[in-house]
Amino acid sequence: MKIAVLPGDGIGTEIVKEAVKVLHALDLPFEMEQALVGGAAYDAHGHPLPESTLKLAMDADAVLFGAVGDWKYDTLDRPLRPEQAILGLRKHMGLFANFRPAICYEQLVGASSLKPELIAGLDILIIRELTGDIYFGQPRGRRTAVDGHFPGAEEAFDTMRYSKPEIERIAHVAFQAARKRNKKVTSVDKANVLETFQFWKDVVTEVHKQYPDVELQHMYVDNAAMQLVKAPKAFDVLVTGNMFGDILSDEASMLTGSIGMLPSASLNSKGQGLYEPSHGSAPDIAGKGVANPLATILSAAMMLRFSLNQPEAADRIEAAVQKVLAQGLRTPDIYSEGTTKVGTAQMGDAVVQALA
Ligand code: IPM
Ligand code: MG
Repeated sequence: MKIAVLPGDGIGTEIVKEAVKVLHALDLPFEMEQALVGGAAYDAHGHPLPESTLKLAMDADAVLFGAVGDWKYDTLDRPLRPEQAILGLRKHMGLFANFRPAICYEQLVGASSLKPELIAGLDILIIRELTGDIYFGQPRGRRTAVDGHFPGAEEAFDTMRYSKPEIERIAHVAFQAARKRNKKVTSVDKANVLETFQFWKDVVTEVHKQYPDVELQHMYVDNAAMQLVKAPKAFDVLVTGNMFGDILSDEASMLTGSIGMLPSASLNSKGQGLYEPSHGSAPDIAGKGVANPLATILSAAMMLRFSLNQPEAADRIEAAVQKVLAQGLRTPDIYSEGTTKVGTAQMGDAVVQALA
């Protein structure tokens, strides 16, 4: 079992360290190799995704990823910015299926900005298509407008596009995931305005014929944004394109009160996966030892389940996380009165102890 460990920037290095600690404590025959990615790789090698890092990731069974990005790189040319590392990994590894669960842990109901009754027991799964859409569509760029409201003016443009096979494969992923859950899929589109998403809706409807046991609902993205805060528990599996999924998954993560708790998995058709917390590099708290490592530790659990065929080990990690929460241990992002505030490393150590 080969794991490429890519901590990245900001709190990435601190939280991945804790996840690696937890993996070591499982006493399984892992081979872990670490490499630079993002701004850290740019500083050392002049590129956010060096050839050697990409090769390590492509040759591994799974990638454990921290986070990339820092304000200080915002003025670099786009191809050299840290974010290009994660986009490049998704593209080169073909990681088209992104799983972003939003689960509200019983002990953290009070941490949400929503009323407890709206989110107690929340367990939804956002499945975001990750290698298509306006994120990767060509052409894109800047030019002089030849038409539109201001011909002759400087303009910028991107291309939103989806091919039929791209929509079909993510629809299959969603229906199959729903079969293992509450058998309901909400496909989120903007078919009332966009050609791309009318096509999305048509293709999802067609694939659905192979899953008569799963309920399919279509919802416009603006309405989905509203329903997520109005009645989030009405969702089971939500499937959508790359752009809408980026936005809705951040929204959904906050329902749980703590983006610091949410893992994610990005899978390709070969079972390889990249596992990362749903949150970013948080440069404002980097180096302070206060970041919540639980999302990354839970991402390692997803890795054991989806890419390394170690479901028992995954269960053990998840149970250990529940246990430390029940013990009242909290990093500052999830702290509330009456609980015990701990730092990043203490939280990691507590999870290791809870594994025993
Ligand atoms: C995410 C992030 C990335 C995205 C950025 C860092 C490129 O926001 O994983 O959701 O937009 O996909
Ligand atoms: Mg995002």
